[in-house]
Amino acid sequence: MPLRPYPDTFELPHGGFRLHSPAKLNLGLHVIGKRPDGYHELETLYQEIDWFDDMEFHPSSGWSLEVVGSSEVSAGPGNLITKAAQLLAETAGTVPRGRVVLHKSLPVGGGVGGGSSNGALALIGLSRLWGLDWPVSRLHPLAARLGSDCAFFLYGGLAIGRGRGELLELLPANCDGAFLLAVPNLGIRTPWVFENAQFPLTDSAKSVILQSRINPILASENWPAFVFNDLENIVLESFPEIAALRQRIAAAGAEAVLLSGSGSCVFGIFRDQTQARHAALQLGSSVTVRVCLAVARPRS
Ligand code: C5P
Repeated sequence: MPLRPYPDTFELPHGGFRLHSPAKLNLGLHVIGKRPDGYHELETLYQEIDWFDDMEFHPSSGWSLEVVGSSEVSAGPGNLITKAAQLLAETAGTVPRGRVVLHKSLPVGGGVGGGSSNGALALIGLSRLWGLDWPVSRLHPLAARLGSDCAFFLYGGLAIGRGRGELLELLPANCDGAFLLAVPNLGIRTPWVFENAQFPLTDSAKSVILQSRINPILASENWPAFVFNDLENIVLESFPEIAALRQRIAAAGAEAVLLSGSGSCVFGIFRDQTQARHAALQLGSSVTVRVCLAVARPRS
């Protein structure tokens, strides 16, 4: 896949534009411990994938947000897009304005970061719409306040996240292979997962995070053997349907299967798209599935 600048931007008539708001997978997620502020100290490997919501930004003197394609996502004050608009406006000494339309495709409560991505892309989009044109380095602290995964979505591609996830080491490339994502018909609350997880000590020699720094292409044949997620055990114990789904993806030939973030999505890693599509057929129509590729971004 050719390297292209982030984010994917498309011009619309009358000064509007459209941005892709992508999903991520956590290829590795190590929980180091609980912090005094109640959050958990993490080391995680984020990978942008080619599955996204679309966000339209149109000039307008008032503020409005419309959500198309999901009855689960409210357009009210709790939406991270609205929160991003308020935070950016306060910081810039202005008031929120613009007409934003979110076309929702990504699963909600699935652990692929859809809401965080929307919040981050709102910062990028509104900064442009309001003529601020702030660099992402200036948006970064605002994204970190919106949510732990938001900062990653200012950059996309492949990155290691530390701290709550907001301290980023951007990596230049991505991983080969294809992902088969399965979306169970349930959302999982992230705080519950963090509160109830028992954290195994990950063997750092087997960590995909370490691998990604030594070999940023992650093209070695055996990189899937190094993926891990410290949040997985509690979710598999508590949701037998997710454990069963994981087993079905493994039985369909995946080189590795992992829960994404705090769930509920699980993904299998396959050698290529053909094998991932073949496995998708084996899973049948009982579960929503999607075949995705990793997206790489240029790092300057
Ligand atoms: O930051 P965000 O609002 O996305 O996090 C949702 C919840 O996940 C937090 O309220 C916290 O319970 C948990 N969390 C955590 N440690 C992190 C990230 C999230 O405990 N590093």
